[in-house]
Amino acid sequence: MKIKRKCLKYIDKHFKNIKQGSTVAISGATGSTGKALAYYLAYLNCNLVFLVRNIKEGNNLKKELLDLFKVNIDVIYLDYANKKSVDQTIFSLSKMGIDLLFNNAGIYHQPLKLIDNYDITFYVNFLMPVYMEEKLAKIYSNIKIINTGSISYRYLKLNKNDLLKLNEKNRTLRYGNSKRLLMLYTTYKKYLGNNFSLAHPGISATNLFASKNKAYPKIFYVFITPLMKIIFMNPNKAALSLLKGINEDNLPFNKWIGPRGLCHAWGYPNIQAIKEGLLEELKDKELLDRVFKIINKEQSK
Ligand SMILES: NC(=O)c1ccc[n+]([C@@H]2O[C@H](COP(=O)([O-])OP(=O)(O)OC[C@H]3O[C@@H](n4cnc5c(N)ncnc54)[C@H](OP(=O)(O)O)[C@@H]3O)[C@@H](O)[C@H]2O)c1
Repeated sequence: MKIKRKCLKYIDKHFKNIKQGSTVAISGATGSTGKALAYYLAYLNCNLVFLVRNIKEGNNLKKELLDLFKVNIDVIYLDYANKKSVDQTIFSLSKMGIDLLFNNAGIYHQPLKLIDNYDITFYVNFLMPVYMEEKLAKIYSNIKIINTGSISYRYLKLNKNDLLKLNEKNRTLRYGNSKRLLMLYTTYKKYLGNNFSLAHPGISATNLFASKNKAYPKIFYVFITPLMKIIFMNPNKAALSLLKGINEDNLPFNKWIGPRGLCHAWGYPNIQAIKEGLLEELKDKELLDRVFKIINKEQSK
């Protein structure tokens, strides 16, 4: 993995109060942002638990980092598209002494596919992460949880009569809906005084836009992906915004972390206001009740 020297310099300068020896679980550790995040956390002497759906890739990453850093790394299978796998991951994590969870895994621009009567984007980006977080927060009362939002939350408002978006054909809107729900949930947990944080990586030419994820027709990967790599941020830099979540224990509930720069798509991290009506949605009791009804139903199944 190539990590830019200037990103490490940024870390040396800005990330001083990370507790060395903390155990940090990262979902999607084998993804583009996840790998950089794992590298930075190992660099900062944290022990790591990779939550991955590709164990071989996870072990390769483990080996690469253990050659460089003296930390402990475990690799655990996690598939957010399979609730049994999520339950097994929670069971494994319950034995490990976790201080922090980075919920970084996610899918983008996928066709509608039903899992347990939910769309896969809703299930993987929102419902299963929240299911796991609710369980982990009960096991570890002091755990810190950092969720990965997206500026795509701007694309729509939540519709309390259509939270699941099962008839929505537009893939980007279903993605925006899943991230906005995750953001509403995180912001509400913070408002209640829980140790949650919310960050976003701006826009970065990651594997979300790689052909293996089959999000777009083949031609997209020939022409658009290379262009994105020129225009948008490298995942190394994007991961700094997620990492900053670890450093911001007292961030007000109405703020999140992301790249500064135009439209918050590029640049080094800073603290930003959550806008676009999301805070008004927090005041909508009926909407919150409906969201938590879905979450609580999943907990009790
Ligand atoms: N890139 C952007 O511009 C952008 C913008 C806003 C937000 N984000 C968010 O940033 C996060 C990181 O994404 P990325 O850009 O680094 O893309 P990425 O390289 O595709 O990483 C996504 C990670 O999620 C994992 N994943 C996907 N489905 C999963 C499932 N069912 N169970 C468990 N893990 C699963 C992937 O596993 P594999 O490694 O096995 O593929 C991968 O490790 C995501 O939450 C994404 O929504 C990205």
